[in-house]
Amino acid sequence: MSSILLKPGFAAARLARPTTLLRPLLASHFSTTPSAQREIQSVIVVGAGLMGAGIAQVAAQAQLNVTMVDLSPDQLQKGRDIIAASVRRVAKKKFPDDEGKQSEYVDRTWSFIETGTKAEAVVAGADLVVEAIVENIDTKQKLFMSLDAAAPKHTIFTSNTSSLPIAEIAKVTSEDRQARFAGLHFFNPVPAMKLVEIVKTDKVDTETYQSLVDVTNRIGKTSVACKDTPGFIVNRLLVPYMMESLRIVERGEASLEDIDVAMKLGAGFPMGPIELSDVSKVCLPVNFVGLDTLKSIVEGWAREGKVEPAFVKPVKQLTDLVAKGHFGRKTGKGFYEYVGPNGARVGAAKK
Ligand code: CAA
Ligand code: NAD
Repeated sequence: MSSILLKPGFAAARLARPTTLLRPLLASHFSTTPSAQREIQSVIVVGAGLMGAGIAQVAAQAQLNVTMVDLSPDQLQKGRDIIAASVRRVAKKKFPDDEGKQSEYVDRTWSFIETGTKAEAVVAGADLVVEAIVENIDTKQKLFMSLDAAAPKHTIFTSNTSSLPIAEIAKVTSEDRQARFAGLHFFNPVPAMKLVEIVKTDKVDTETYQSLVDVTNRIGKTSVACKDTPGFIVNRLLVPYMMESLRIVERGEASLEDIDVAMKLGAGFPMGPIELSDVSKVCLPVNFVGLDTLKSIVEGWAREGKVEPAFVKPVKQLTDLVAKGHFGRKTGKGFYEYVGPNGARVGAAKK
């Protein structure tokens, strides 16, 4: 039984998808790939949440053949809704005065996206798997174990994990696959953030790394390389910074509003650290990092014991908020409080 579900109304647009015959021409136009390396043309994104939907979108915008997979048609619909809102925004920016071209761009992007509910059933045609499912090592390992058995030899596996060691996730796959297994860490909101971290384990081979550099270039992102260390580059710096901002509040040295204003106007950051841990203004109703995620990253690091203890020292107010289910904007309350359908911020939350 096929697990592919096509978005209704896009059958015609999909006819415009490049044929197998044309793909090598497109590939040679975009690629700087050495001949020993395989060009990545088809991508499976597992997880149609905030990150998976964003990754599927940017890959499709770059005319890669994408299959976005999630557990149920309902979850897939949520992913499609995220893409629909974002791709319209991108199209408006690209063609501000031409509604016809905007629609063409949107339809063309959708024509590169298929969806399904069983990754194992579609992985046979994939050059690259990008996993963006729930941040849980057992669930990720279970997924990759079953994909390893079903995928062709050449398929590259990647995880978008924020905080789990890539080698730990990869170790359930064969030795051969571990040579083609890396971290591919995108940032939120994916369509707007230009960076991708490529996380190299001790086992990953040079061709795999180069293929990942090429594919991130093709989707319009800049890549940086990093070893498989806690938080890679960005989160290793960002998470302790966010935690220290909460400690400033805890010590009563400054208010959360003033800390956010200080870092925006004094350091040129687009969002203050508490805002960043609490909210999203662009991808409602989801959050950026979320207090639950922040706490779980710090606790994971504390357990692993590889990060300075001072960086992972708990913050009582964070622990209390998460225990009460106040994860930030997505739940209406975090350090700040939010109201209304768009979750507009109404000020610091009452304790
Ligand atoms: N889809 C498409 N485009 C989007 C978008 C979306 N969902 N969200 C933003 N954009 C684009 C806008 O079109 C706009 O493009 P131009 O500048 O080219 O016109 C640009 O992004 C800026 O958007 P806005 O003008 O609407 O809003 P802004 O200037 O306030 O910027 C922001 C919004 C880009 C989110 C900015 O506030 C920002 O950079 N914030 C920090 C985000 C951040 O730090 N993310 C990383 C979180 S950590 C992480 O992701 C890693 C992890 O593992 C947890
Ligand atoms: P999310 O909760 O929005 O989406 C996760 C999706 O995965 C859900 O739709 C869920 O139904 C689906 N899923 C769960 N198990 C599955 C399975 N076995 N097979 C198929 N689908 C499954 O989460 P998110 O924020 O998109 O995060 C996804 C991953 O990206 C996590 O590893 C997270 O650490 C990482 N990440 C998140 C951010 C962020 O700011 N949210 C940034 C970078 C990386």
